[in-house]
Amino acid sequence: IGPKHDCLCNVLLGFISLDCGSPPNEPPYNDVQTGLTFSTDNGFVQTGKTGKVQEEVESLFPKPVWNLRYFPDGTRNCYTLNVTQGTKYLIRALFVYGNYDGLNEYPSFDLYLGPNYLETINLGLWGTGGMFEEIIHKPISKSLQVCLVNTGTGYPIINTLELRPLQNNSTYNTQSGSLRHFRRNYFSTASRTVRYPSDVSDRVWIPNFDEKKWTEVTTNFTVNTSNGYNPPQVVMASASTPISAFAPWNFTWTWLLTPSTTQFYIYMHFAEIQSLQANETREFSVLVNGDPMYERYSPKPFSIETLSYFTPQQCDQGNCTVELLRTSKSTLPPLINAFEIYTVIDLPLLETNQDDVLAIKSIQNTYNLSRISWQGDPCAPIEFLWDGLNCDNANASEPPIVTYLNLSSSQLTGIIAPVIQNLTNLKEL
Ligand SMILES: *[C@@H]1O[C@H](CO)[C@@H](O)[C@H](O)[C@H]1NC(C)=O
Ligand SMILES: *[C@@H]1O[C@H](CO)[C@@H](O)[C@H](O)[C@H]1NC(C)=O
Ligand SMILES: *[C@@H]1O[C@H](CO)[C@@H](O)[C@H](O)[C@H]1NC(C)=O
Ligand SMILES: *[C@@H]1O[C@H](CO)[C@@H](O)[C@H](O)[C@H]1NC(C)=O
Ligand SMILES: *[C@@H]1O[C@H](CO)[C@@H](O)[C@H](O)[C@H]1NC(C)=O
Ligand SMILES: *[C@@H]1O[C@H](CO)[C@@H](O)[C@H](O)[C@H]1NC(C)=O
Ligand SMILES: *[C@@H]1O[C@H](CO)[C@@H](O)[C@H](O)[C@H]1NC(C)=O
Ligand SMILES: *[C@@H]1O[C@H](CO)[C@@H](O)[C@H](O)[C@H]1NC(C)=O
Ligand SMILES: *[C@@H]1O[C@H](CO)[C@@H](O)[C@H](O)[C@H]1NC(C)=O
Ligand SMILES: *[C@@H]1O[C@H](CO)[C@@H](O)[C@H](O)[C@H]1NC(C)=O
Ligand SMILES: *[C@@H]1O[C@H](CO)[C@@H](O)[C@H](O)[C@H]1NC(C)=O
Ligand SMILES: *[C@@H]1O[C@H](CO)[C@@H](O)[C@H](O)[C@H]1NC(C)=O
Repeated sequence: IGPKHDCLCNVLLGFISLDCGSPPNEPPYNDVQTGLTFSTDNGFVQTGKTGKVQEEVESLFPKPVWNLRYFPDGTRNCYTLNVTQGTKYLIRALFVYGNYDGLNEYPSFDLYLGPNYLETINLGLWGTGGMFEEIIHKPISKSLQVCLVNTGTGYPIINTLELRPLQNNSTYNTQSGSLRHFRRNYFSTASRTVRYPSDVSDRVWIPNFDEKKWTEVTTNFTVNTSNGYNPPQVVMASASTPISAFAPWNFTWTWLLTPSTTQFYIYMHFAEIQSLQANETREFSVLVNGDPMYERYSPKPFSIETLSYFTPQQCDQGNCTVELLRTSKSTLPPLINAFEIYTVIDLPLLETNQDDVLAIKSIQNTYNLSRISWQGDPCAPIEFLWDGLNCDNANASEPPIVTYLNLSSSQLTGIIAPVIQNLTNLKEL
């Protein structure tokens, strides 16, 4: 680690920042944009080969994106990351093809979180810019697996993998499932994308402003942003209001590549950042898809408040709207500083019983077994069951258990490892 600008965030904040496919002997380095320390993914993944995006693509991205790891062998290849149980994480992966293999053929492959399908990464849809996947998720066990699955349409690739523990476990709650990033905007005429260190959890905030409909309000005073969500100061220090003082403030979107029945959560961050006179009032109703979420709302002076739902929402035929409607009492138009929209991802499959996982990994180490399928969850999903294993996955509300282990044809010698006894559900060895 460089002597001058050590980023202690990896240690203090528990960040993991991987430059996938960088040489195993390359020392960690600090990313210029964020100051975050990136290191090689060697040690987090057992398989794959390394490549590099072509030079003309390099200039479009910061250094951590230049290298990539691709997976020519096996169906499912997995990263294993140590996490703190019960802590919520922001997990982000970036995929940029960059014609690393000179074939000019964008791959398409599937991304899994542990046993569960997350998304199909179809890079042909995104071209040179590549794409990212970002989720907010609370891991169930002490290790988190991010898996890339070959679906017969090119080798899976990955350029960066980032894990950021969130500051507060009580934020971004869902009834079930986890959250996938859809958009995260702050309303400002600025052009600067804001992330770490301004955002202590390294969320990426993109400025958004519709000059035809909105005027900007800014402040030089400090806004109290401490409500658990803690967006950056710069994000809360600007806001948009409708140009025409009596018009509603509204925002519309439609789902891209997701069904019109997609469920979502929205987090709207408000703070009054104008110093109001005694005879001035700002009051408005907040409507999502035409339904009142909050009636007669007044943002708190120079202090954040985040409005959100307890239950997931859906949009009529996939067309979604947010409207802020000025009340008759109000002397000022509505105002909003920032918002975040996430879609709900279902993660129905349970991970294999953790005692069985520890035992089978210990067996793998003891006998130095290097089978390509022996990565990711041993039992789930059933289509990626490890070679030589059988499991009981019958009851979906209980973790799968290992019931059968076949190590023959592995040229094993020596003693029978005592840890085999730890597979307490084994019926056949
Ligand atoms: C993850 O945790 C395991 C067991 O606690 C430890 O042996 C391993 O070195 C850790 N891996 C990393 C990359 O920190
Ligand atoms: C979140 O909850 C877990 C488990 O309850 C705890 O270990 C962790 O310290 C919490 N994290 C924060 C930031 O409060
Ligand atoms: C904030 O400070 C800058 C520079 O001192 C000044 O130009 C600007 O008018 C101030 N903005 C507000 C809203 O006071
Ligand atoms: C900021 O707001 C929080 C919650 O409203 C409050 O607990 C805290 O004391 C405030 N901080 C400051 C510096 O005013
Ligand atoms: C965590 O966030 C919740 C919800 O916003 C808030 O009520 C609570 O005070 C926060 N806790 C801490 C330690 O910041
Ligand atoms: C948004 O507001 C404009 C007026 O500013 C109005 O003409 C338009 O119908 C509104 N759109 C929606 C979806 O409510
Ligand atoms: C509020 O009072 C100020 C004078 O103190 C006056 O100039 C202004 O027009 C008043 N505003 C409203 C909305 O009544
Ligand atoms: C939804 O949006 C699509 C395209 O943006 C449009 O064709 C359709 O009429 C809209 N439906 C409703 C109910 O507004
Ligand atoms: C095997 O089980 C024993 C007794 O429960 C335990 O102490 C040991 O840590 C287990 N070993 C592994 C690798 O899980
Ligand atoms: C484990 O197997 C790999 C190849 O599969 C080999 O390179 C390595 O030397 C073996 N390690 C031990 C300790 O036998
Ligand atoms: C599945 O497991 C749940 C929870 O342990 C239990 O309540 C249920 O009876 C089981 N179902 C079957 C069909 O065994
Ligand atoms: C165990 O695996 C070997 C090699 O894959 C296979 O030939 C053999 O039939 C298996 N044995 C049983 C009992 O399934």
